[in-house]
Amino acid sequence: MIAMRADTACRAESATLLIVGLGLIGGSLAAGLRQRGFRGRMIACDPDAREIRRGIDMGLIDDGGTDLAALAPAADTIVLAVPVLAIPGVLGELRALNPELKGQTVTDVGSTKAIVRDAARRLFGRVPKTLVLGHPIAGSEKSGVAAADPDLYAGHNVILTPEADTDAGALARVRALWQSCGANVLEMDVERHDAVLAQTSHLPHLLAFSLVDTLARQDARLDIFRYAAGGFRDFTRIAGSDPVMWRDIFTANRDAVLASLDDFEAGLSRLRAAVETGDGDAMLAAFGRASHARHYFESLLNKTSYQTEYAMQPHSQVTYRVRPGGGARGRVRVPGDKSISHRSIMLGALADGVTTVTGFLEGEDSLATLQAFREMGVAIEGPHQGRVVIHGVGLHGLKAPSGPIYVGNSGTAMRLFAGLLAGQSFSSELAGDASLTKRPMNRVAEPLRAMGAVIDTAEDGRPPLKIHGGQALTGLYYDMPVASAQVKSCLLLAGLYAEGETWVREPAPTRDHTERMLGGFGYPVERDGDTCRLTGGKRLTAGPIDVPADISSAAFFMVAAAITPGSDLTLEHVGINPTRTGIINILKLMGANLELVDEREVGGEPVADIRVRHAPLKAVDIPVEQVPLAIDEFPALFIAAANAAGTTRLRDAAELRVKESDRLAAMADGLATLGVAHTLLDDGIDIVGNGDGSAASYGGGRIDSLGDHRIAMAFAVAALRASDDIVIDNCANVATSFPDFIELARRIGMGLDAEGGHVR
Ligand code: S3P
Repeated sequence: MIAMRADTACRAESATLLIVGLGLIGGSLAAGLRQRGFRGRMIACDPDAREIRRGIDMGLIDDGGTDLAALAPAADTIVLAVPVLAIPGVLGELRALNPELKGQTVTDVGSTKAIVRDAARRLFGRVPKTLVLGHPIAGSEKSGVAAADPDLYAGHNVILTPEADTDAGALARVRALWQSCGANVLEMDVERHDAVLAQTSHLPHLLAFSLVDTLARQDARLDIFRYAAGGFRDFTRIAGSDPVMWRDIFTANRDAVLASLDDFEAGLSRLRAAVETGDGDAMLAAFGRASHARHYFESLLNKTSYQTEYAMQPHSQVTYRVRPGGGARGRVRVPGDKSISHRSIMLGALADGVTTVTGFLEGEDSLATLQAFREMGVAIEGPHQGRVVIHGVGLHGLKAPSGPIYVGNSGTAMRLFAGLLAGQSFSSELAGDASLTKRPMNRVAEPLRAMGAVIDTAEDGRPPLKIHGGQALTGLYYDMPVASAQVKSCLLLAGLYAEGETWVREPAPTRDHTERMLGGFGYPVERDGDTCRLTGGKRLTAGPIDVPADISSAAFFMVAAAITPGSDLTLEHVGINPTRTGIINILKLMGANLELVDEREVGGEPVADIRVRHAPLKAVDIPVEQVPLAIDEFPALFIAAANAAGTTRLRDAAELRVKESDRLAAMADGLATLGVAHTLLDDGIDIVGNGDGSAASYGGGRIDSLGDHRIAMAFAVAALRASDDIVIDNCANVATSFPDFIELARRIGMGLDAEGGHVR
């Protein structure tokens, strides 16, 4: 029996494990299993009897030999750790011993999978159900069992490529084998495995071999290497790898390698042309994309939230633990406005000339927008401490992206992009994370179709969106059924490309950053009461953009100060655009002591410092006209309501159900956990506040933010008046809008700790 320690309990019930090929890979597996408490019998087969002897002497295996036929029948689990081109031969020998591999779980470690699968099909007529192909993505330049490392697989990925009818028990056994060595086990199909490995491993090895070989040949005495610096060393480290092994890999994975080499050659030719013609913008665009992608890759390695989103695990495991009590004092500047940051990149990219943005929000959502434009050929420098320089390509200068545009968690990005992309000559696809994939997109797809756009959505109008380019758009008059700045902005952006005038009527005022910024770029937008309009076909001219601090992020700290006795907090340089100030208006109605200091206008947007001190709050009926003006601030306002005297009532707010989460339901669940009485309605909520002056307004407890940044931050603030710890799960997405929330919350006096993920 393979018996594992309880913490790595292995379902692999195996009496005898046979490792075929006792080199670095097989030896490290044996060492890893041994170190983690494997108590079964471990044997090995290798053509080199000295390796077997060494393995026994090192205490890795119990026994072994050079004759597979003598060893295999005793084994119930067999790992083929031989070079990939040798695997078909070993499979043939196993078949001769046990024609259907009955009673034996067999797996391999080959770096390419199609060749192994095809050999199995040839030999057995099909892939036997207990043959589970696998590939540990780990290695070293060293070789031989003497180099065996028990931690070689710890924290590394192992990819398994099961068939549809692979035996579930065999799959679980192989999975457990690798997991018990500390590896992360993933599954994908054979073709995808081979394509991914061709791109991420085989191509880089080919380039490293080629570069070193080319340089070495040019300089027969290898003198050139004396002058080589770190860049050369970093780039070529893998050229020291085993030539025979790599010959085998390129032989085995020929087609996938050739496909990725073709892509690479095309990219290299584009760069060659840019260097030859001195096209600085093209170089900057390519290098910028690459540099950003490299940083993103680093965040992948560090396992930030962005990585786990991308890996389709909806919310990475960042948990906040907030101690009850604490203060809200000092002066802070929260990060840049998310809505304005998105728009600054979009309009800057479409403008003629260079746009410099300061105060840009370096959150995951706006960074995804920035990366999307890089993928469409726009040269963008930064961000460096909130400064971004965009080399605009003009209204018609975008290039087709090479794959789907990923906009992460951002509804704003998806809806605004939909309008902008509907007017392009090329087709495109917009995709987002698990939360965004549930959000309604017909609200933009339908009016865009009425303008002549051709857009496919997934079922029920959900993302992804496929936008067919090359359509002639015509302007339209659109009377929006919901008050939505995203829909309005989407149509105005499509309107830039439309023949004639595009009119949008809003049932209630919504944020007008798009109109203001278009105006700032010299593109006229008329407003007549509740309707705005523009005419297509004009030009945008680049100009500087100063992004104020985001009132939606400041809202959490405004509420923090409003509910906390002894507070005195100033939030600097906050955008107070009148279409966004519902939070200020509602808090003032509730009796908050809130002052706007040094009101000024910066780059077309009103800005002020906001000073908040504690005052007893009273419940209010939230005026319906304030709802669109505070649409993102309700999670914070609900916490204010829970601390006010009396019952606060909200109506006409069904839109909250289709934000990053169903915010009415998510907040109601969290309030219930804290013991705050409330009644949930379809379009609103009644919250019974406990503002009776007692030390704590409610209890603590464990709350699921559902991966919604604003739910997470709202309950973190709630702890200021709780009697017990509040623990909040799924907080990684706070980084979409407020990357340094933890640091600033601590700075004002909140007792916030975070566990898991990559917390800042
Ligand atoms: C936004 C508009 C609002 C808001 C969102 C940002 C924008 O959405 O909730 O966070 O930048 O235009 P709706 O316009 O759909 O209400």
